[in-house]
Amino acid sequence: MRIVIGSDHAGFLRKKEILNYLTGKGHRVVDVGCYSEESCDYPDYAKKVGRAVSLGKADRGILICGTGIGMAMTANKFKSVRAAVCWTPRVAALASEHNWANVLCFSARFLSLKVGEKIVDAWLKTPFAGGRHLRRLKKIEKGTVK
Ligand code: RB5
Repeated sequence: MRIVIGSDHAGFLRKKEILNYLTGKGHRVVDVGCYSEESCDYPDYAKKVGRAVSLGKADRGILICGTGIGMAMTANKFKSVRAAVCWTPRVAALASEHNWANVLCFSARFLSLKVGEKIVDAWLKTPFAGGRHLRRLKKIEKGTVK
């Protein structure tokens, strides 16, 4: 699975940890920045990840900032991107099972590394349930403007 990962300054250190965690498990992960703790603007990195997933250059994306919220708002502007802010492993599993979330967003400031790893695991391992959930997702796509 090709995973693209991005963060702003608030998520930079957690991104490095999650990147190491994923590569240690054998995943191919591309880091699109940022590359330091210097203050930067989260939409710049959410756009890189959103675009890569939207264009099919990556299968999934992960975005980490202070809360995860600004990242999701930005990534969801891209066609076919379904970005979800997740704060527990169960929520992450449901984001996959019900919402087929292809971009996972989470907080570096309010979640520990351990919880972050469990969230990533739950999101990656849980399959989309399809059925009525696919019908609902199609209704979202109709409203997409890009
Ligand atoms: C940066 O201070 C913070 O606003 C950002 O990381 C994020 O939480 C935005 O949604």
